[in-house]
Amino acid sequence: MQVNRNFSNLATSYLFTEVARKQREYSAAHPEAEIIRLSIGDVTRPLVPAVIDAMTRAVAEMGKAETFRGYGDEQGYGFLREAIKKYYAGKGVALTLEEIFISDGAKSDVGNILNIFSTDNIVAVPDPVYPVYVDTNIMDGRKVMLLDANAENGFLPMPGEEHADIIYICSPNNPTGAVYNKEQLTAWVDYALAHDAVILFDAAYEAFINDAALPTSIYQIPGAEKCAIELCSLSKTAGFTGTRCGYTIVPKALVKDDASLNAMWLRRQTTKFNGVPYIVQRGAEAVFTPEGMAECKENIAHYRENAKVMGAAFDKLGLRYCGGVHSPYIWLHCPDGMTSWEYFDVLLSEYHIVGTPGSGFGKNGEGYIRLTAFNTAENTKKAVERLTK
Ligand code: MLT
Repeated sequence: MQVNRNFSNLATSYLFTEVARKQREYSAAHPEAEIIRLSIGDVTRPLVPAVIDAMTRAVAEMGKAETFRGYGDEQGYGFLREAIKKYYAGKGVALTLEEIFISDGAKSDVGNILNIFSTDNIVAVPDPVYPVYVDTNIMDGRKVMLLDANAENGFLPMPGEEHADIIYICSPNNPTGAVYNKEQLTAWVDYALAHDAVILFDAAYEAFINDAALPTSIYQIPGAEKCAIELCSLSKTAGFTGTRCGYTIVPKALVKDDASLNAMWLRRQTTKFNGVPYIVQRGAEAVFTPEGMAECKENIAHYRENAKVMGAAFDKLGLRYCGGVHSPYIWLHCPDGMTSWEYFDVLLSEYHIVGTPGSGFGKNGEGYIRLTAFNTAENTKKAVERLTK
């Protein structure tokens, strides 16, 4: 037998697993240290009341023979897809129910979606970026072409001459917080159409966009329905990090190599996925109600305030950073020429703060650290006080 040798081309451990390991080891050696975790983007506010009410009702339904539900449609219940369809209509994007697939989060589908693409495709991935894009393609053995994102281009690489078949775009970007505007996304859509390529658009942080002129969906760009798949998550929008629910949009108009990607994805999902739990989907439906939306917005405003507090402190300290405006992440330039992991160690051992080393997001992330606003106001202030002392 043979194993998938592509795995030997990966770093030994996944970025966030490595960060968590280092934190665990430090805590074990220094049990008195009060650690503030500004590393993985794990929300800290509980699920909002609208979601809890809906899930509680759903639990009760599951306990009665008349309302019990077994397997649902693999692509999700109609009630949730209807809610998402309306949400997109509010953005000026017309979708059909068949184009919406409910997932257990964007991370899973970012990896799973590759099932429908040949391993011969050339993949363009910004550097730095969410490590799942590169790692999942390495696992499959695809050729990855890195697009430099740096301070010079505002961490927003634009299309060049080189050909790619699959292009990953994450906007607002994880880890830098940079956001593409309409013109820039139009250039990417035009490139994808000209190259017969597919854009995998990760919109996990769309709810953080704070400017009506900035696109929150790739489908706000004309022609995107012919060249883009959008992946989204309720993790950051509604605190579903532990509850697990997201969605993937595969337009019917997306036909490549004489194949409907929508039909292929449906075939893949009905075969390999058994859907998201009914209780979770009822909770997700509640996110899109007026009450749910208002409650989630309040949480996002809280995280935004945390980012502002951090930004103000870094301004005072004269540290260079970006992000934190349309994103929960602050992308901080490490002081004194330190590498990402060196500064990670300093933050952990001297300030008891855990960040995510920028180099873990790609070579251009070297010399940066990512700090998240997903924390309580108290912890954020405490972290800032430690840093400014
Ligand atoms: C992050 O911190 O980059 C994300 O929370 C990780 C994820 O969504 O998987």
